[in-house]
Amino acid sequence: MDKIHSLTGMLDHYDDGDIENISVKIFETEKRIKKVFTNYKYSEIRTPALEDTNLFIRSAGDASDIVNKEIYSFNDRNEKNIALRPEGTASAIRAIIEKKLDQTNHKLWYLGPMWRYERPQKGRYRQFYQAGVEILGYEEGAPEYEIISMVCSIIEEFKLKNCSIKINHLGDKESKKLFCDALIEYLEPFKDSLDEKDLTRLTKNPLRVLDSKNKETQSILKNAPSIREFIKPSALSLLENIQNEYQDICNIEIDYTLVRGLDYYSGFVFEAISSELGAQDSFLGGGRYDHLSLKLGGKNLPSIGMAIGVERFASLIKDITTSNKVVSFLTLTSNLESKPYKIAHQLRSLNSNIILDLQLSDGSLKSKLRKANKNNSEYAIIIGEEELRDGTAVIKFLNDELKDQETVSIEELFSFYTSL
Ligand code: HAM
Repeated sequence: MDKIHSLTGMLDHYDDGDIENISVKIFETEKRIKKVFTNYKYSEIRTPALEDTNLFIRSAGDASDIVNKEIYSFNDRNEKNIALRPEGTASAIRAIIEKKLDQTNHKLWYLGPMWRYERPQKGRYRQFYQAGVEILGYEEGAPEYEIISMVCSIIEEFKLKNCSIKINHLGDKESKKLFCDALIEYLEPFKDSLDEKDLTRLTKNPLRVLDSKNKETQSILKNAPSIREFIKPSALSLLENIQNEYQDICNIEIDYTLVRGLDYYSGFVFEAISSELGAQDSFLGGGRYDHLSLKLGGKNLPSIGMAIGVERFASLIKDITTSNKVVSFLTLTSNLESKPYKIAHQLRSLNSNIILDLQLSDGSLKSKLRKANKNNSEYAIIIGEEELRDGTAVIKFLNDELKDQETVSIEELFSFYTSL
């Protein structure tokens, strides 16, 4: 029979215990990012993968690439147009409005798959994972500092090098309008040189022209007015304060041309990039979106958030060794002998901080020790026929140059394991 293959741009991930494998890095990234979210006292929100397509048209905007050409939408059996979510923010706000919680403050996190029908390449997939946070119900100020502090904590947690955070401010409604008018006026004489995409952006959301990939547009923009001349002094000092406070942890750059690919942003925006990523260099992005709740039929709910692209982020990690010790448990007895498995059970209840890898397969001691080394075990506990008869176990020290192994009683094994 023919084999069935996975869909283009959609990857399988499997933990084979090899710490160099990207899948292993992805799972570790997810675990540790979740820990940062909970340490900051954020609460989890989990929304469905499928939503009414209108949710994304209304939030991301019909001029955005996400809605224009990347959305996975189709009619269900009832002829309702539904879409696989391309991002998590709109769903989180929809859920909060639906639960009638849009009058209170929230600090939320989520982690899950998103779908965008993009041309797959390194770092760009059709199904990818985002770990995100949304801070709802707070005006500009404290949440901006909190979110950049969280980005820095995540960068520190994973000891990332060669990355920087770009920040900008899109202004309040009034200054954004003045800037857009100035931009339109500046671009008017160049209209014949703009491609169709940039012309559409110019009418639907002029700020998005700044994000154009067209070289000619970018060279025209070199002399365009800068948003710096239009935003309020409070916005300028927010950018400067953030840069000054966090500069010692991560390189923070004010970039007055930074705009985001979704229409709902207002005010402070940011992106983290790494020179190690190649063309798709942004591993995280976010910003303030004060008007999204009203646009989705909810109350006034000033908000800010960000999402990390888990695959891109994981590819930057060099060292994923965890603080938890790993011990391998090897039996060289018949598979039907129950005693060793009960001993392993007792060890696990004695010390839950240890990762105990009980090797289930038959095989030689040599192959089992090879596996123990591969999964970074510090010790191997070995029970063969002789140990079983004598009521003992062998502790093999895998990382100790001076000590090879020791035979101990089961009681001694229990105290050794408890003390790890
Ligand atoms: P975004 O910039 O569209 O923002 O996506 C955030 C991150 O998701 C990107 O920086 C990138 O790392 C990753 N990403 C995006 N598309 C792909 C892809 N096709 N393959 C792999 N990774 C990808 C948002 O989605 C906003 N919802 C963030 C946000 C939350 N803003 C406010 N709250």
